[in-house]
This record gives sequence, C-alpha cells and structure tokens, in this order.
Amino acid sequence: MFFDSHTHLNDPCFDEDREAVIEKIKAAQVSGMLNIGCCHASSVDCIAMAETYDWVWAAIGTHPDTADEVDEALIEVYRGLCSHPRVKAIGEIGLDYHYETIPREIQKRAFRLQMELAKELNMPVVIHEREAHGDAMEILYDFPTVTGVFHCYSGSLEMAKELVRRGWSIGFTGVVTFKNARKAVEVASWVPLDRMLIETDCPFMAPEPHRGKRNDPSYVPLVAQRIAELRGLTAEQVAAATTQNAHALFRLDE
Ligand code: NI
Repeated sequence: MFFDSHTHLNDPCFDEDREAVIEKIKAAQVSGMLNIGCCHASSVDCIAMAETYDWVWAAIGTHPDTADEVDEALIEVYRGLCSHPRVKAIGEIGLDYHYETIPREIQKRAFRLQMELAKELNMPVVIHEREAHGDAMEILYDFPTVTGVFHCYSGSLEMAKELVRRGWSIGFTGVVTFKNARKAVEVASWVPLDRMLIETDCPFMAPEPHRGKRNDPSYVPLVAQRIAELRGLTAEQVAAATTQNAHALFRLDE
C-alpha cells in the first residue's frame, strides 16, 4: 500500500471528476494521503475533505505565493484549526524565490510566524522551498525543535545531509522520473529509507509517462518504482517504508 504525502485533491481542476479519481486512487493501492493547504481558504477545504474520507488527512497553512495573507489574526485562526483531529501538520509553508511575486521579507515573516506556531503546538511542518536554500536554512536554525518534511526536494546532497542530521525527512515527487532530474535522483539514491516520503504534489509534477498532464495520487506508485530502481529495492519495499514513515512523522495513528 502506498501513501501519497503531498496532494492538492481539493484543487478545482478535480471538481468535474473527483469521485472517479478517488476510485482510480483506490484501485492503485494508495491507502492514504495528506492533503495540503496553500492558503486559508484551501486549508479549510482540506479539512472538509479529511472529514469526508477516513484515509485522507489535512495539513493547513499558507504557501509563500500567498504569504501576504498571513498576519497575527490568521495565525490565531490557524491555531484553532490545528486542534481539529484530522489536521496533522502545518503546511505548506516556506520560501519561493522563483517568481517572487511576493517580496522576500513578506515571505520570511509568514514563514517565521507559521514556524513559531508549529513550535508552540509541537506539530510537524511541510516545507515548500524553491531557489531560497540559504534563507530557508537560516530560518530553520532558529527553530531547532521543529521538524517535518522538505517536499519536492530540490536542494543539494549536502543540504539533504544537513537536514537529515537535524531530524528532517525528504519528500520526492515525479521529478525523480524525469530524464533531466540529476540532483533529485542523486539525493533520492542517498536519503536513509526511514527519512524518505513519496508524493505526487498533484495536480502538478506528473511522473513519466504522464509528464505535463494532470497528476493524481494514483501515479504515486511510479515514484516508488523509480526510487526502488535507484536503490536496488522493490516498489513494495519503498511503499512499505514510506507509508510507515508518513504515519510516524504525521502521527496519523494518534
Ligand atoms: Ni504542494
């Protein structure tokens, strides 16, 4: 059984055929997923979905692309949402300097406020970090008791080693199946099996041979298959380890 640790199944692009997609997910032996909020509104949607399906859990938080919505009042709202029994992580939060539609200082402030909440509530976080490695690490160093997963990991092997040493897990998407995925492949070949998560990040990042199309959690076995090839394991071994890791990191059984 596979666990997809990063999905956006509440995305409007699934409104037309979500029930059909859910049937497809079950047929693909995907037994659980963590559905991730990107802003206040989508976080509320994630909780509603986690209330509907007993194999879906929610993470709530604000992505760097909408960091300008984060203020003390929203943190207060998030503090309340975190007491919901189906909310298992704060995320996705972090920094994204690729487009920089939101100024860096605003992104950093939103990231810090949400890390502070994770620290206070002792909850794991889901990190989105793109082209902001140095600044992201600097903020992590200020919160040594907070850990979680770096999702769709895009950093160096050195940085992955530092994260693992500090107790973090690393999440891999369909990027590991892409022909030009040199860095992600290098890191996926190294990360200790008990610190690895697999994810689709659907509807984005569809693995080969579906690259460029709408992604959904039924494709997460393709990520496991590729990692298994890289490490000389079976897809079942990768599936079992990453499912167990997700349950442990997000305390799904508590
Ligand atoms: Ni995401």
